Amino acid sequence: MRPIFVLLLGVLGATAHAADNEPLALRPQIERLAANLAADLSRLCPPAQPGDQAAFDRCRQGLFQDSVLRRDLAPRLLWGRVHKDPGTSLKETTLTQFAPDVLAGLYLPLFMFNGKHTVEYDARESLFLVRMEVAFRNRLAPGQFPYPFWHDDAKWNTYQGANSLLFWIDPKTTRIKIAQFTDRGATPPIVGSAPVLQPKFDGKWLWTDAEGRVQPQVTLFDGLFRAENPYLPKLDSAYKPLALKMRDAQCDTCHVPSNPDKMKRLVLLQTPAHAAGEIERLMKAVREDKMPIDEIGIEQPLDAKLKSSLLESGGAFEALVRAAKDWESKGRAQ
Ligand code: HEC
Repeated sequence: MRPIFVLLLGVLGATAHAADNEPLALRPQIERLAANLAADLSRLCPPAQPGDQAAFDRCRQGLFQDSVLRRDLAPRLLWGRVHKDPGTSLKETTLTQFAPDVLAGLYLPLFMFNGKHTVEYDARESLFLVRMEVAFRNRLAPGQFPYPFWHDDAKWNTYQGANSLLFWIDPKTTRIKIAQFTDRGATPPIVGSAPVLQPKFDGKWLWTDAEGRVQPQVTLFDGLFRAENPYLPKLDSAYKPLALKMRDAQCDTCHVPSNPDKMKRLVLLQTPAHAAGEIERLMKAVREDKMPIDEIGIEQPLDAKLKSSLLESGGAFEALVRAAKDWESKGRAQ
């Protein structure tokens, strides 16, 4: 009985393999995309000391502006850790939704690249997978991270031990749809750095430092928008009234990095940059009474006064974000 069983498994295995369904015709295009992307990332964000602020600034300005990465990102993406159980599908993995601006300007620049990569097709996900060798800049000042990753020890340790980034590419659009990081890649981090023990998280996603500056500084587009951008100093003051209204409307009980509601596809709104990336959807969700929802997921209409003041502060912030971006793109076109 046993040999037949083994034989049968062999046949099934072979059939599963034949049904891989890899769109073979696309392979050269995806390989070209991966090679261009890896070359651009290693040019803009090469290995450096893990606390080198100037190297980090060059990397994030480069990625945020007109990089190969920016052109390859889907209009809305997912980001997060690779699940610790390798059997877990992407669908079952908790990930965060991002606009390309936010991922390219605040998250991916925290990594360094040497250009080494592999390309494979994942039949289960029906996506191409590009893996890149990386290291993480774990010695930057706390305000250079989009939020204190150390609110969760396991998250911070995976970030600071990261040795591989995964880019999932949709064959239909040939754009990156999902990006993930892991400390369980095949090779060690491309830059060695002893682990940093961060102070205990005090529950604040935004804080004011000893010089009176709002932190994390990177979430005010500092170093992303040009210093002469006339709208840059106003972003913080326009975000504040919106943040207060969102607090009144309980949005911050769910839309924060600790993910209290255990959303499979988390939406973050807790800093100016995070809210800017979502502001159009935010306005629409409030206008159409889709948000907030209660703890069992049922829409919970706001009282009319709170709704209108939320829309008013959101509208002012939205207009400012748009003006700041328009100013940047006009400047770039000149
Ligand atoms: C009880 C938890 C909870 C509260 C409170 C809450 N949300 Fe949500 N929100 C969710 C969940 C769950 C989703 C769906 C996420 C997904 O796509 O899987 C969501 C989705 C969203 C989205 C994305 C909508 C889209 O187009 O897909 C926005 C924007 C949003 N919420 C804004 C808000 C705002 C603004 C508030 C406060 C007025 C708020 N939420 C309050 C749980 C909450």
